[in-house]
Amino acid sequence: MVRAVGYIDGEIDVLENIKVPVLDRGFLYGDSIYEVFRTYDGIPFMYDEHYQRLLNSASLIGMKVTHGPKQISDAVIETLAKSEVCAGDDVYVRYQITRGSGPIDLNPDLSEGNRLIIIIKAVPKWNPDHYTTGMSLAVPVLRRNSVTSLDPNIKGGNYLNNILALAQAREVGADDCVMLDSHRKVTECSNSNVWFVIDGKIVTPERGNLVGLTRKTLIDLLTANSVIAEEREIDYDELKNASECFVTSATREVMPVCSLILEDGSKCSFASGGGPKTRHAMQLYQQMLVNFKRDNADQALF
Ligand SMILES: Cc1ncc(COP(=O)(O)O)c(C=O)c1O
Repeated sequence: MVRAVGYIDGEIDVLENIKVPVLDRGFLYGDSIYEVFRTYDGIPFMYDEHYQRLLNSASLIGMKVTHGPKQISDAVIETLAKSEVCAGDDVYVRYQITRGSGPIDLNPDLSEGNRLIIIIKAVPKWNPDHYTTGMSLAVPVLRRNSVTSLDPNIKGGNYLNNILALAQAREVGADDCVMLDSHRKVTECSNSNVWFVIDGKIVTPERGNLVGLTRKTLIDLLTANSVIAEEREIDYDELKNASECFVTSATREVMPVCSLILEDGSKCSFASGGGPKTRHAMQLYQQMLVNFKRDNADQALF
């Protein structure tokens, strides 16, 4: 069992004792960026890629990251040591950099310096039915923030857009939402990327969403296995022609979708447990993880 622990300003303790100061800009304004990575057999998965994405989020909000990748990984290792992890545990690591404390004033220049916060806990256990049957999605009325207002590639501490869309999807009985942008193009789910099979091809929206690392990994895997996977604009009207659907994220991996509620309340149903292309993607991803664990055993942190 992984004990949930946290790190703030060099202090490490059980999570319930970790407190963020009320003048922290992450708390006051969502003025922060973060990454989540997980371990497999104790090996951090895509640590460097996550750090690069953090730097991209930072540049999109004009934040200078003062914590280097080694400083963060040292803090993670130190925090992990307090979590009583054992071989075989799968660990979720969320590290967040806020623009730090300062006066109650929007001006980011008034920040007293960045603050690093780390949360370590067990990888969430998703409902097993979501893999054997699939999860359900709905298209909410609420639109995804536009790339020119709050770019979805800012992986930051402001998730209200996603929270409100998720709440709307849940109101109609779905597990998660598929958000459209203001031009009715498909973007992503509340915390995962979405994929469809349309006209026999695997497709995923190319913009208006966070560039998921799982998505990138899966595109490379599919391509290496001669399966066509296209990142392209997907119009809402195309969804009624979709024959399969799945989502990807670091913690969900590849998760099938069994139903999608459209804006008019009509429902598209997909094969239970995923259609053939979804199952192939799930199987390729699992095989990649077997190889990853075999090839990187010397990188295990515990
Ligand atoms: C909004 C959003 N989109 C997509 C993703 C999937 O990204 P990744 O595959 O890197 O976990 C996430 C994951 O946190 C997310 O929050």
